[in-house]
Amino acid sequence: MPETIFEKIDGGGELSIGEIAFLLGMEEKAGMEILFKKAYAVKLKNVGSKVYLRGLIELSNICEKNCYYCGIRKSNTLNKRYMMTEEEILKAAIWAYENRYGSIVLQSGERTDEAFINFIENIIRDIKKASSGKLGITLCLGEQEEETYRRWFNAGAHRYLLRIETSNRELYGKLHPADHSFDKRLKCLELIKKAGYQIGTGVMTGLPFQTLENLAEDILFFKKMDIDMIGMGPYIPHKDTPLAVEPFYPDFNKQYALELGLKMIAVTRIVLKDVNIAATTALQALNDKGREMGLMAGANVIMPNITDTKYRAAYQLYQNKPCLDENASLCRECIKKRIEDAGESIGYDEWGDSPHFRSRRNEKN
Ligand code: 5AD
Ligand code: SF4
Ligand code: FES
Repeated sequence: MPETIFEKIDGGGELSIGEIAFLLGMEEKAGMEILFKKAYAVKLKNVGSKVYLRGLIELSNICEKNCYYCGIRKSNTLNKRYMMTEEEILKAAIWAYENRYGSIVLQSGERTDEAFINFIENIIRDIKKASSGKLGITLCLGEQEEETYRRWFNAGAHRYLLRIETSNRELYGKLHPADHSFDKRLKCLELIKKAGYQIGTGVMTGLPFQTLENLAEDILFFKKMDIDMIGMGPYIPHKDTPLAVEPFYPDFNKQYALELGLKMIAVTRIVLKDVNIAATTALQALNDKGREMGLMAGANVIMPNITDTKYRAAYQLYQNKPCLDENASLCRECIKKRIEDAGESIGYDEWGDSPHFRSRRNEKN
């Protein structure tokens, strides 16, 4: 069975949902190695071997929502809440610009009040001004109104990441309180695209209740939604969340979680071909070389953390998050070495748009 699927991949044939699920379920080392190699070849052919850096600024851990898996959910009172000042955010952005990261990601817990919307709008303008329009800005600020997405786009942000978390409505329902709406999230993805952003989404892999078929459907969902960028990673339990407590998650197998995350990157690369795929930090939380493994399995983007270390411990969506004490400069050197050791090069000063976005845009014009 794997041989025929691998032949189909070599011939560029479209994989069925059953074939995708089969690949995701492979547990034998040799088979996984072949899968990663094939995905790497598809990456080289479609997006090359340059790795694009996005400096990640975790600007606030204040969140209105209560996702059952997340360490900064509103009901987790053990968290000290923070909000970076405008000066701190601008300083981090300028650091990214001066260190030749082509773009940054502004991420935070979800807030929809006018003060927050204004704050973000102003900071986007400030960052654009300080970098003569050169630094690319990606937002990862959750579900918002259409008007808000438009305001932030007009201020100068050009990419937006909103993970669907799972494309399966029923599973989504099990991972979130009743007032968190799957339909609203889907609608937001459409609004983001409509506002003109390059659009990114993704899922967590290895979630409780999640099947291999669910993950195969997630990949087909990315395809159907014509997504430009994918950010996905293994689910890692956080002890102060409902999902980490028995009976939901009695045991967590790090090696299995890592391998599943890597297989998901590989198969997504094979099916979607020309999109940007991030090797996320959650992979590194499971294995010191997790992100390099992600690059070898088909990812081409890394998001080094450039948040001031004094805030990092308070932004733990999951446990054992790496780089809690390493400042932006240390992470920069560390990432550089890791990427070079993996035999890849860094796309300095580049926005690094996915070829997929470029062809999507050209089709529209
Ligand atoms: N493990 C892994 N990823 C998580 N996220 C939230 N909580 C966890 C967790 N426990 C991810 C979600 C969210 C992103 C910002 O972080 O997918 O979209
Ligand atoms: Fe808030 Fe995002 Fe965490 Fe959900 S996953 S609780 S929206 S920060
Ligand atoms: Fe932060 Fe390695 S990337 S220390």
